[in-house]
Amino acid sequence: MLLEGKKGLIIGVANKHSIAWAIAEAAMREGARLAFNYQNDRLKENVAGLVEGLDGACLFPCDVSSDAEIESFMKSVEDEFGTIDFLVHSVAFAPREELTGEFVATTRQGFATALDVSAYSLVALSRAALPLMTNGGSIVTLTYLGAERVVPHYNVMGVAKAALESSVRYLAADLGPRGIRVNAVSAGPIRTLAARGVSGITKMVDAHRQIAPLRKATEQAEVGDTTVFLLSSMSRGITGEVIYVDDGYHILGALAPV
Ligand SMILES: NC(=O)c1ccc[n+]([C@@H]2O[C@H](COP(=O)([O-])OP(=O)(O)OC[C@H]3O[C@@H](n4cnc5c(N)ncnc54)[C@H](O)[C@@H]3O)[C@@H](O)[C@H]2O)c1
Repeated sequence: MLLEGKKGLIIGVANKHSIAWAIAEAAMREGARLAFNYQNDRLKENVAGLVEGLDGACLFPCDVSSDAEIESFMKSVEDEFGTIDFLVHSVAFAPREELTGEFVATTRQGFATALDVSAYSLVALSRAALPLMTNGGSIVTLTYLGAERVVPHYNVMGVAKAALESSVRYLAADLGPRGIRVNAVSAGPIRTLAARGVSGITKMVDAHRQIAPLRKATEQAEVGDTTVFLLSSMSRGITGEVIYVDDGYHILGALAPV
C-alpha cells in the first residue's frame, strides 16, 4: 500500500484505455483517494461511469486551457479533500491536421494550441494545486520520445513535449524547497484516443514490438505502476527526471533488427 492515506488528482481520463485510468487503477490499488476531471460534456458520461464505482472518489469538470475552470476545479477539490499529496497530468492535444505530413507546415494556431494544452497546462495546474499541497507532494506528467528525436508525424506534439520536459525541470527546481517533486514518465506508443490522432500509430506500435529490447508493446498498466512509484515515497530522492517506460526502445541506435 504505497499510497495509503494519500489523496491526489488524476487529470486526463477519457476512457478505460487512457493512461490516466491505468494510473488511477494502480493508485487505488495502493490505497490512494482520487479526484478526477473530465474535459467536457462529451466525455463526462464515460468518465463518470468509470469513477462512480471507486471508493471516496470525486469528479469535476476541467478544461485545462481555461484558467477559470482550473480555479473552480481546485476549489471543488479543496472543499472535498482539504489538502492533496499528488497530481497526475496526463493531457495532450494538437489539431489532427498538425499530426500528419511535414512539421514545416505547422500553423501558428496549431503550434499555440499544442503548447498551451500539452505543456503550459502542467504549469497552470501545478500552480493552482500548490495551496493544497501543504505537506509536500509529487507531480507526474506523461511525455514521449518525440520530445528528443524526430518521430514521423508527431511534429508539433514533439515540440510541445520538449517544452513539457523542460517545464518539469524548472518546476522541480522551484518546488523542491517546498518538498514537492516533479517528474515525467516517457511512455512507449500505446493505442489510445489521443494516440489515434497521430497518423501511423499502428505501424509504430508494431515496429516497437519488433525492435524494442523487451520485444513487446508498452502497456498502460506498466506506466501506471511506474507512476505510482514516482508518486510514492519510494522515489523521494528523484525530481526533475524523465523515466522511460518503453521496453528500452529509447536506448537503441539501429532502429531495425540486425
Ligand atoms: N498513447 C501513447 O502512445 C502515449 C505515449 C507517450 C505519452 N503519452 C501521453 O500520455 C498522456 C495521456 O494520453 P493517452 O494516450 O492516455 O490518451 P487519452 O486520449 O486517453 O488521454 C488524453 C487526455 O487529454 C485530455 N485533454 C485533451 N485536451 C484537454 C483539455 N483542453 N482540457 C482537459 N483535458 C484535455 C483528454 O480529455 C484525454 O482525457 C498524454 O500526455 C500523451 O501525450 C501517450
